Amino acid sequence: MFTSLQPKVLSILKSKNDVDAKLQEVCELLKKEVTHYDWVGFYFKNGDKEELKLGPYAGAPTDHTVIPFGKGICGQVAVSNQNFVVPDVKAQDNYIACSITVKSEIVVPLFVNGKNIGQIDIDSNTLDPFTEDDERFLEFVNGEVAKIL
Ligand code: SME
Repeated sequence: MFTSLQPKVLSILKSKNDVDAKLQEVCELLKKEVTHYDWVGFYFKNGDKEELKLGPYAGAPTDHTVIPFGKGICGQVAVSNQNFVVPDVKAQDNYIACSITVKSEIVVPLFVNGKNIGQIDIDSNTLDPFTEDDERFLEFVNGEVAKIL
C-alpha cells in the first residue's frame, strides 16, 4: 500500500499549486488511502518561538493549533528530533488529547538542511496500528516535502 502511495505523493508535490495546497492534498490522500489514518496534519516551528503551529491538515478541526515545545507528543518530537510512535495514547502522561476517539498516534519530524522545522502528525482510532512501514513511509513523505519548502 505505501509503495503505491509514494508516486501519488510525488505527483502532488511537483504540481503547480502553492505549498499549503500541496500539503493539504498530501494530508487528504493519506487520510483517505490509509485506513488506520484518521487525522493527518503538519505542524511547523512558529518563527523564532519555541512552539509549533498547525499547518495543513485533514480530519476534524483541533483546538491545538499552537503547541509549546515539550508539550504533548508533538512538542516532545520538536525537542527530541526522533520519531514518536504511541501504540496507546492512554499510556502516555505527556499527551494532548484532540478527540476522544483517538487511540494511537505517530509523529515523525521534518528536517530541512538537518534542522527539525516541523513534523507530520497522524492520529488513529485503532489501537496499536503503526509498524516500521509507517515510519519509513512518513520519513519518505517528509523528505520529499522538505525539498519544496
Ligand atoms: N495529540 C497531540 C496533539 C495534536 S493532535 O493529535 C492533532 C500531542 O499530544 O501532541
